[in-house]
Amino acid sequence: MTDWLSRWESNNIGWHADQVNRQLIERLSELNLVTGDKVFIPLCGKSNDMIYLLGRGFSVVGVEMSKIAVEQFFLENNLTYKVSDVGKFLLYQGKNIQIYCGDFFRLTIKHLEGIKAVYDRASLIALDKVSREKYVKHLSDIISSGVRILLLTLNYPQHQKIGPPFAVSKSEVDSLYKGSFQCRELECINDIENEPMFLLQGVDFVEKAVYCLQKVRT
Ligand SMILES: C[S@@+](CC[C@H](N)C(=O)[O-])C[C@H]1O[C@@H](n2cnc3c(N)ncnc32)[C@H](O)[C@@H]1O
Repeated sequence: MTDWLSRWESNNIGWHADQVNRQLIERLSELNLVTGDKVFIPLCGKSNDMIYLLGRGFSVVGVEMSKIAVEQFFLENNLTYKVSDVGKFLLYQGKNIQIYCGDFFRLTIKHLEGIKAVYDRASLIALDKVSREKYVKHLSDIISSGVRILLLTLNYPQHQKIGPPFAVSKSEVDSLYKGSFQCRELECINDIENEPMFLLQGVDFVEKAVYCLQKVRT
């Protein structure tokens, strides 16, 4: 099991990107959002993609277990915030943004009232196979019908490298979300040339895929 809190304590956060994610910029319109809509970011870290979504006029609700991550997010982006104790979480609130600091698996549908979309970058793929099943089941339980998910995944020969990030294939996405979700694959490219760590470890390919899912029934 990945010890995420230790990774934040030792600043071992190789997944964190300074730039806004290209796939988010190019595919955001698939979420059919209008100004003011609320987007949920599970396992949000201190992602700069949240700043991009705020800049596009949306509200953001995140969940992140590390206090270090949440505090760095607000401080590094010069955002003022207040903190309150809301039971199982510390709630960090700034203008148009709320981050629940605590365990994703303790979130309930109440915390996500009014959510129109979910943005998942490096969240599903941060988890091992057993946790991925739990994650999708829980996510499905706490979002309403009609909500869309923009899901970014990586797929590579898992036996050539240890996760995280873990390899998640199209067939796994289909099987995880089958039943309550419609799923469309929007793109899938082999981007191994831009992944020096994978190249160094002799990985043959890294497919980066984007899916748009929509919850159709509870
Ligand atoms: C690979 S990082 C991705 C962060 C972010 N999505 C991004 O794109 O930068 C995964 C994050 O999930 C957080 N995390 C892992 N398990 C969690 C859980 N059960 N509840 C809340 N946060 C969790 C970790 O602390 C870490 O910051």
